[in-house]
Amino acid sequence: MPKAIAVLSKGKGFAAKLSGKLGIKKLPLKLDVFPDGELYVRFLGSVKGKTIYMVQSLSGAPNNALLELFLAARTAKELGAKKVFGILPYLGYMRQDKRFKAGECFSAKEVAWLLSNCLDRLYTFDAHLHRIKSLNKIFRIPAKNLSSAKPIAAYIKKKFSSKNTVIVGPDIESSQWAAKIAKSIGFESTILRKKRFHSRKVKVHVHKELEWKGKNVVIVDDIVSSGHTMAEAIKAVKKRGVKEVHCICIHAVFSEDALRKIRKAGAKSIASCNTIPHATNKIDVSGEMAEELR
Ligand code: R5P
Repeated sequence: MPKAIAVLSKGKGFAAKLSGKLGIKKLPLKLDVFPDGELYVRFLGSVKGKTIYMVQSLSGAPNNALLELFLAARTAKELGAKKVFGILPYLGYMRQDKRFKAGECFSAKEVAWLLSNCLDRLYTFDAHLHRIKSLNKIFRIPAKNLSSAKPIAAYIKKKFSSKNTVIVGPDIESSQWAAKIAKSIGFESTILRKKRFHSRKVKVHVHKELEWKGKNVVIVDDIVSSGHTMAEAIKAVKKRGVKEVHCICIHAVFSEDALRKIRKAGAKSIASCNTIPHATNKIDVSGEMAEELR
């Protein structure tokens, strides 16, 4: 079956790598914004009879990214595409994964409903699955959650030594990345504890003391959003006389002044995966996606 890649506004870098790895051409597409802020989508090449890999990250301006994906996917189907597969390296809206307070929208579920109504299948990386254990609990289409653990582990192994480096997860949820990655490459690890007061205030403390002095620390988390979690984790380990603190995240949301905050807290380096286009992207995970789609 013929295949083509449709590149939406937040999918450019990732789609270019995917296209190269899979040898699948990109479809000409016009994306624009009307003067009043409404979105414009037009396919300039034929989608008829094709399987379309539609690449978009729900980041930056996530609401526009989501609507653009919805409009493009529905249009592709109307124009005769055989299947539309959503390649969403970052699946936004997954952190509101329950009704925390009475009357709140359970956004993860509603966004999953919307995507289930425009896509035939979805692929993403390291979705924020904490209270929801599997994407298939909220999606009505096949939805696959890929892992960036291997490329991150390879990056850490290349840059640091297990002899003097500890991998740290800033909260219990991060253990599924930090502890797993550490184990896969034989590094020591520990998981801190976090209390969140609201979206811009968290407290992080060391739960299990280690021989910290003179060690390098690599903090691994899935998302950096406001940057408070990372900054507080840096402060907690710095107090213990560690040598250097390096930060790695999968999804570089970096809202507001997150980057400045993390640097100010004392991060020696900051690296992210290329699931969201960002200046810190140093770990390419497109190979994992290409492998899955082959
Ligand atoms: C929370 O469970 C996530 O794993 C991240 O720790 C969190 O989303 C980071 O958010 P922020 O950068 O706003 O502290």
